[in-house]
Parts: sequence; C-alpha cells; structure tokens
Amino acid sequence: MCGIVGYIGEKCNLKRVLINDLKTLEYRGYDSSGIAIYDGNMKIVKSKGKIAYLEEQLESIKINDSNIGIAHTRWATHGEANDVNSHPHRIGCVTLVHNGIIENYSELKNNLINKGYVFVSSTDSEVVSALLDDIKKSEHDNLKAISKLIKMLEGSYALGIIFDDDYEHLYAVKKDSPLIVGLCDNCNLIASDIAAIMDHTKKYMLINDFEIVKLSKNEVQVFNSELSLVNKDVLEVSWDINHAKKNGYSHFMLKEIHDEPNVLRDTIIEYIKDTDTLVNKMPDFSKYNKIHIVACGSAMYAGMVGKYIIEEYANIEVSVELASEYRYKKNFYDHNTLVIFISQSGETADTIAALRKVKKDNIDTLAIVNVVGSTIAREADRVLYIRAGMEIAVATTKAYLLQVAMLILITLNIAYANKKLNRDELDKILVEFGTIPNAIKDILDRKEECFDIAKTLYKSKDIFYIGRGIDYALCMEGSLKIKEIAYIHSEAYPAGELKHGSISLIEDKTNVVGIVSKELLSSKTLSNIEEVIARGAVITLVTTDDLEDNFSFPCQKFVVKKVNDIIQPLLIVVPLQLIAFEVARIKGCDIDKPRNLAKSVTVE
Ligand code: F6R
Repeated sequence: MCGIVGYIGEKCNLKRVLINDLKTLEYRGYDSSGIAIYDGNMKIVKSKGKIAYLEEQLESIKINDSNIGIAHTRWATHGEANDVNSHPHRIGCVTLVHNGIIENYSELKNNLINKGYVFVSSTDSEVVSALLDDIKKSEHDNLKAISKLIKMLEGSYALGIIFDDDYEHLYAVKKDSPLIVGLCDNCNLIASDIAAIMDHTKKYMLINDFEIVKLSKNEVQVFNSELSLVNKDVLEVSWDINHAKKNGYSHFMLKEIHDEPNVLRDTIIEYIKDTDTLVNKMPDFSKYNKIHIVACGSAMYAGMVGKYIIEEYANIEVSVELASEYRYKKNFYDHNTLVIFISQSGETADTIAALRKVKKDNIDTLAIVNVVGSTIAREADRVLYIRAGMEIAVATTKAYLLQVAMLILITLNIAYANKKLNRDELDKILVEFGTIPNAIKDILDRKEECFDIAKTLYKSKDIFYIGRGIDYALCMEGSLKIKEIAYIHSEAYPAGELKHGSISLIEDKTNVVGIVSKELLSSKTLSNIEEVIARGAVITLVTTDDLEDNFSFPCQKFVVKKVNDIIQPLLIVVPLQLIAFEVARIKGCDIDKPRNLAKSVTVE
C-alpha cells in the first residue's frame, strides 16, 4: 500500500536520494508515485505507473540541490491511478503526502468547496491539504495547525507535510497507518517502514497514533496531540541489510524461498533444544480452553494449519477467522479464550482493528509477528516473533512457513501441558524438528522437478487444489500463491466436498493438484482423485515418500520426505511455493510485485 518518505538535512541531490528511498518502498505495492522538493521553488513531479516513469519525467526538470523533500508511492483508493491523483498534493501553503483513508473526506470537501477551494484530483488526500491550508489562515503555528487538523479527520493517515512558511522543518503525524522516523548525523527522515531508511541509518523511532513530529536537520521533536513533548526510545534495526537485496537471485520471491532453511533455524532454535526449553520459552497457555486465530490472507491460511494441529494434538477447540470479518461480527469468547493474531507486517489494518476490538473486551491476546515493534506486536498482550528478516516479495513465503512453525511450537507446548504428549515423545519430535531446515534445503535442490511440473500447469485457465484435513489447509496456501503471482484462477477444495457441486467444473485436461501427506486420510483423498481422473482431470500429486507407492494412476509427483505429521506441513508447502514461482516465471509475470497487490495492507 501507499508508502511515504521525507527528508530534511544537508543540501544534496535530493531527487536521487528520494528516488532511491522510494524504490525501497516499491515492494509495498503501488500504481503511481510522486515527489516534491523545495529548491527555492516547490517542484512537484508525479507519474502513473512504475517509479522508472517518474525518474524519466524528473530527467527533464532542473532541480537544484535541496535540504527538504517528500515522496510517495500510491496504491489507489479514492480515484483511479493517474498523474493528477498521485501525491504529493499541494494547496495554498501546504504540500503533503498521505498514506491511509480519510473517511469523512466528502463532508470536509463540501465545506471547503463552499469556502472557495477548488480540487483537481478525486483523492481524499488533496482534501487534507486544503483543510490544513484553511486552518493555517487563522493558526500561524504549524504544530497547533496539525493538532487542530487531526481533531477534524476521521479514518487513517500517515502524513508528511511541508509548510511554505518553514522550509527548515518537515512535519509528520499518524493514526492507524505506519510511520517511523530515521535518525542520521546529517539528516532526519520520515518513512512508512524501515526499508526506506536502511540505506541511511539503522537508528529509528516508532511514532504512535496522534503523535506529531517536527524534524530539522539535526533535531527530532515528538509531541502528543496536546503538543506536550514526548520522550521517544531510539531503536536500532536488527535486520541484515542483505535481506533487502536479491543476493544473486533473479527475484526476491526465489531468494526468500531459499532463505527458508536459515530463517526457520533462527526462529525455532531457541525453543527446540528439549522439552524443558520449549516449556520455559513459551507462554503458559494452561488457562485457555478455546483459541481464536485471526488474520488475513496467507497468515490466515497458516492459522488453518494451526487449527488442525492444535485441535488434534492439544485437544483445544480452535476457530480461524478472517480479520476483516471478525472485526465486525459477534464473537463468542470469554476469559478462557486466547485470541492469536498472525501478521507478517504487523501493520495490516483489519488485523489491527480486530485486535483492538478484542482488547477492548479484555480478552487475552497473543501476536505472531515478523516486524519487530510493529503496531500488532506493540499492542497485543504478548508477542512471539518469527525471524524471517525482511520479506520484500509481495507474496509471502518464508514468513508463512515461520508462522506455521510457530503454531507447531505452540501446539507442542500445549499438547505436553495437557498430557497429550509425554516428554519422550516431545523430545523426539523436537529432534526431528531440528532436521527440517536441512530437509527444506534438499527440496530446494530439486528446483528442476518443480520447473517440469510448472511446464504442465502454466497454460491452465483453472487449477484445483484438493486435500483433506491439514492437506486442505495447505491447498489454500498453494492455491493462493498460484492465483496471486501467476494470475491463474484456482480453488482450494476439501477433497471430499468436490462432488457436492464444484466437480461439475472438472472437464478434460483440467489440472488438479492433490496434496496427500496424512496416511489416515490418504485412501479417502485417493478415491476423490480417482473421481476427478474419471472426468478427465490431469493430476499433480504432492505427497510423502511413505505414501507414494499407494498411487497407481498416471500423474506427475513431487515427493517429500515423511516426517512426524505435526511438522510435515513445513515440507509440503515448499514445493507448492516453488511450483507457483516457476509457473509465474514461465508466464513472464511480475512475480515480486503482482498486479493490484500490496505487501502491507494498511487500509481497510
Ligand atoms: C499472500 C500474502 C497476503 C498476506 C496478508 C496478511 O502471499 O502475503 O495474503 O498474508 O495480506 O498480511 P500480514 O501477514 O502482513 O498481516
């Protein structure tokens, strides 16, 4: 979603600096971009499409070295993606960039039109610049003007603001959209996320809702909405800068799939030494008799895997809910319910809203998050961090894997506490868990097999993924991956459900991916696969080496090593990711930045 960045500091070739910083925000997803630099005059350049187009336009415009500027990548919400709707927006004495959605913008806009303001774009953000300009007519002090502004805005925003009467300071404020401040020796920065500051500094501050920031070249002041100074902690980015680089891989997605063995080891190592380590490192879950898992997209699908294993091994009822639904529906929880929120970014708007709702009801919350210090990590009662490092490709791979890994650790911990597993059994599983990173490495070495499978799939109009139980949960993730990066319509179906309707869509040469990893259900899924074969389906099977001989029908197979059922999903998902990647590569899709998608979904 939209990304903002702003610079105040030593005079420099700011055009170059801001373009570089914007490029680091590309992964968030965008459809236009723009830049405003003050070099004695306010120069604003905006362009629909890739940042490369913005760069082309900037070539023809003379911009002198400058000390202040703001820039933006826009993911269209109000008004189509075009040059005019792109940010920055400038009205009167105010130039600004905005990430978020102003819900009461149309009422504000009507009032401003009545006062004589004229709008050229269809955006809610232009309304904010007009409103701030209007406030400035009676309020000279810029901090006071922003404080008045935020009392009038409903919705979400991270704003980077330049006032014509103060080119020595950059201003920013936020509510429900992410904002950080980067601290350097000769400049200070605002940005939507850490990626944009990593080329400048490792030191940063997290800005909270309604905090107003005033930055100069060598000072950052943060105020609350009543304009009292707030003391902020200075944090240090722990991520390796290499996480933001492709390191020789053709795509971030491929690189991130290849990161999986290492990041899995980094994430689980502190828990798996033996049963005592696991018990000591994990929270105490003994009071809970019900778990809700709330998330969006792949994080929700990781939660589905969690549901199957927690219910089976730990004997606790789990419901998995989409955050966008959960936040508005009636929820049945009590003080023995734990609500687990899963989010790679920790900034997903729906997940944040659902978390706040649950917290308001005084129900215990736990977050599984990748981005340290993100909103969800800060607001949940407890947090378990996965250690994926930075994930740049829009489609998640390594973070999904680690979310599943963390849910497995939680399950094992509860299963032991509930006496569903004894110490010997648990120790044995933990030892095998420690072998999974290498087993994933072995799968990654078999890229050619995934490529061969992809060659048979890439022309498909539709692909069905079918499986039962936990395999069905994995089908959901496999199916989403192929949809989002290869633009192939796909459905994940519980294998036994197909004949209740959707089997009518199976015809000659329809591609069906069957996932079969659980012996108990394998013969059942096998029958369902036979049913679709009888209707002309072509089968790709992802299965385990103990089961592969059970299948006599003609099909292409990707076979992974059999490990304990509870950790098996970690091996099954890897070929699904690689196959989707290869299909998208053959089709020539924009794999790291699929159309219409955003990495961090910070609006509702
Ligand atoms: C799909 C994908 C998305 C995210 C979803 C939640 O590959 O990445 O479905 O899983 O948008 O994002 P987070 O985990 O950041 O809350």
